[in-house]
Formats: sequence, structure tokens, C-alpha cells
Amino acid sequence: MKGVILAGGLGTRLHPLTKVTNKHLLPIYTKPMIYYPIEALVGAGIRDILVVTGGNSAGDFLKLLGNGSAFGLPAINYTYQEGEGGIADALRLARYFSGDDAICVILGDNIFEKSIRRAVESYEERGGTGAQIFLKKVDDPQRFGVPVFKDGKVVGIEEKPSHPKSQYAVTGIYIFDQRVFEIIETLKPSHRGELEITDVNNAYIEWGEMHWAELDGWWTDAGTFESLLKANNLVAQTGANNPEE
Ligand code: DAU
Repeated sequence: MKGVILAGGLGTRLHPLTKVTNKHLLPIYTKPMIYYPIEALVGAGIRDILVVTGGNSAGDFLKLLGNGSAFGLPAINYTYQEGEGGIADALRLARYFSGDDAICVILGDNIFEKSIRRAVESYEERGGTGAQIFLKKVDDPQRFGVPVFKDGKVVGIEEKPSHPKSQYAVTGIYIFDQRVFEIIETLKPSHRGELEITDVNNAYIEWGEMHWAELDGWWTDAGTFESLLKANNLVAQTGANNPEE
């Protein structure tokens, strides 16, 4: 499996912090934000990694991450998203990198307490096809993609619903097979003008090829002032990407 980190976008919700730099270069406790998704993939045994960046200070990723040796990687790959066309638009750029392999995608502002190794292994044990999402119970589901359940199955996902149909959020880690790129080609921009990862997931749900699991440990994004502060505090308390017991 290969890994893709999506670290484009303009981070406008964090102005003025992101006026001259990229959101994913901001500090989370002792490290820049982008370190955490890289360490999550490396901890899951994934060594082929693509960073999709965009917006401000894209060149600084190269200065910071270099050739990946600080993470024990043989190399690290980069590409650049022009504009802010959405998460699925950024993911589209990973097509040639992934070849025929499945990909584990992490949003660059998502931080996880526990290792994702077991999650990645369970996808491979199932045969390495279809998609997998990871859910977490939250107090504010209207900020996220929210799964709709029927008889224990996820029958759809609603993006930032004003009346969420469950207490769960779809976290920013996804596993897809190669067909994800065919789905992206069929997407239309949403009302916020973006190609939505939720529409990608809904396509797999319609095919009956979506699996889901509930995440262990805490999870947070870091794209608002509140969640950025929360991420700093959580990482200071427990660290991130800790091995599962
Ligand atoms: O954090 C999980 C949530 O992330 C999910 O529950 C939602 O379903 C999903 O849509 C997303 O919601 P946000 O609105 O919070 O995503 P945001 O626009 O903050 O983007 C998250 C990351 O995705 C960002 O840190 C970098 C990457 N991204 C985003 C956009 C819009 C890109 O690489 N390119 C983009 O154009």
C-alpha cells in the first residue's frame, strides 16, 4: 500500500496564522503539523509516500522534509495542487504515483492518538479492494462528514449536515483501491465549489464496497483555532501515533 498526505488548501479559517505560511507547517506541540500524518503512515509500515501541497510556502515543505531520511524513508514524493479545488481534487494528483496499488490517504491537518497499523492490515487481510473509512464519536458532528446508519451499516455520508443523523464523524483517514481515480473523474463541484471526499465515499457505499471501523484513542483535526489548540494540548498530554496495546 502507498500513502498520500493531502496538505493543500489555503487554510483561510486560520488567518492571520496562515497568511504567509502553510497551515501544515504550523506547530503542534514540538513538531510541524505535517510530521504527524507522515509518522502515522510510517508507523503503519507504509514507505512510499506522496505529499500533495498547495497554497502558500509550498517550497518550505522541501526544506523541512527534504528526502524523507529523518523519517527513515528512502525518499519522499511531492506534488502541487493549483487552487483550492477540494480534497478529492488534491487526491486526483496521486493517480500516477499510486499505479495499481491501494492507497491510504490522510488529511494533513488530522492527528491521531493511536497507530493506524492494524487498520491498514485489516484492509489488506480483506483482499485489498473497496474502501474503508474510520469513524469517531464527537460532540460537534455538524463540522464533519457524518455517517447515516441503517441496521449497523453505513448507508450514506452527509457533509457538514445542520441536523446530523448520527453522533459520528468520518475522520480524515481513508483507504481506497485504484477505482477512486475513476470516481473522482465523475464528480461535480459541491455548493462550496469543491470536489468532496464525501462524494467519493458515497460512490463506494452505493457499490456496496465500503467498510467502516471505529477508531481507538482520540482524534482531532487542527484547521480551526479551537481544534488547533485542542490538538496541541492532546499531543502534549499523550503524544500521537502511539503503538496500540
Ligand atoms: O477532518 C475530517 C473532515 O475533513 C471530514 O469529516 C470531512 O468529511 C472532510 O470534508 C474534511 O472537512 P474539512 O472541511 O474540515 O476539510 P478542510 O477543507 O479543512 O481540508 C482538510 C485538509 O485537506 C487540509 O488540511 C488540506 C487538504 N486539502 C483541502 C482542500 C480544500 C487539500 O489538500 N486541498 C484542498 O483543496
